[in-house]
Amino acid sequence: MHVRIAFAGFGNVARAFARILNEHQSRLAEDYGLRCKTVGIATARHGCVTSADGIDLLQAVDRVERGNQLIEVPGSLHAEDPPAMINDCSAQVLFETTPLNLNAGEPATTYIRSALARGMHVVTANKGPIAFAYRQLKALADGNRLSFRFEGSVMDGAPVFNLVERCLPGVRVLGFSGVLNSTTNIILTGMESGRSFEESLVQAQRLGIAEANADYDIDGWDATVKAVALANVLMGADLRPPDVARTGIRGVTIEDLRSAADTGATIRLVARGRLGSGGPQLIVEPERLSLGSTLGAVRGTSNALVLETDLMGEIAICENEPGVRQTAYALMSDLLTIYNDGPELCV
Ligand SMILES: NC(=O)c1ccc[n+]([C@@H]2O[C@H](COP(=O)([O-])OP(=O)(O)OC[C@H]3O[C@@H](n4cnc5c(N)ncnc54)[C@H](OP(=O)(O)O)[C@@H]3O)[C@@H](O)[C@H]2O)c1
Repeated sequence: MHVRIAFAGFGNVARAFARILNEHQSRLAEDYGLRCKTVGIATARHGCVTSADGIDLLQAVDRVERGNQLIEVPGSLHAEDPPAMINDCSAQVLFETTPLNLNAGEPATTYIRSALARGMHVVTANKGPIAFAYRQLKALADGNRLSFRFEGSVMDGAPVFNLVERCLPGVRVLGFSGVLNSTTNIILTGMESGRSFEESLVQAQRLGIAEANADYDIDGWDATVKAVALANVLMGADLRPPDVARTGIRGVTIEDLRSAADTGATIRLVARGRLGSGGPQLIVEPERLSLGSTLGAVRGTSNALVLETDLMGEIAICENEPGVRQTAYALMSDLLTIYNDGPELCV
């Protein structure tokens, strides 16, 4: 028997996941008894398709990477749009990987809501729905006895949400501080070595890590959305990104970085959250950090997060030079968690 899966969004992350599923299919079958069948894919420009018999994932990857339409994959049937794909397909798990949208996390939030209402478990790497609608989506999932997982939404495949949920039972997260945005790290690291802001931004764009709208990175929105996702999930907050005091890195100069370096420090965009009497308070702003500290040591595309807890003190999670494959792994780890929690998926 197979677990029937579908994709809303089939971009870099979803296609890297498709490759991992293909490369590791024997191991997944032997070690976990997990076999997948793709019954639906929805995109913005490459069409939307369903198939009861299963869509060949590698052929789908090939069509999209050549700029062709998914309907060319043998056996696939046309679906009008992404909501129709979700409605028409028989998936048991939906993988949602559409782009971040600061307008209420839509349309991803609606896709996830529809999938949960139709009885599908949902895995997403998109932080928007977690920052804008976590409580509602989690309540809908719980009410329908379904899983809603999102490990890839913050720090790619590094375990953050799973670490707290699965490995730290009974522990309360009291606060966090993190360097969570790779584009601003590249820019600030570049400026430290004398490159201009603009040159360093171009470098981040060439590496493919900048958001499609790089202002989201530079003005601190990406870090803010991640901070809100952390606070909503780990600290019981019900915040939205506009609630957060936010300063981006536009005001940081090469002189600021030189003067920090003279004192054994650096400047990074830091997201902080702390449980106060009125609930979690968040702030995102450039901070001067000692080079010897966990956050101050972060270079290039790397990220780091320090969780402050009641029973375990501080726990640091560091991710060294992550790429799209790490985010794709997050989808696989979420799938295995869902599968291990409910093997009835195969029936
Ligand atoms: N890339 C990373 O390393 C990384 C890391 C962590 C988290 N994430 C998050 O993961 C998600 C996916 O990232 P990505 O790099 O894979 O993005 P991407 O390459 O831009 O792919 C986005 C996919 O979504 C489709 N799409 C766009 N608008 C849509 C809509 N309204 N309805 C349905 N499909 C739509 C696109 O269709 P077309 O193919 O037709 O354009 C494309 O297939 C994002 O939310 C991102 O923030 C990414």
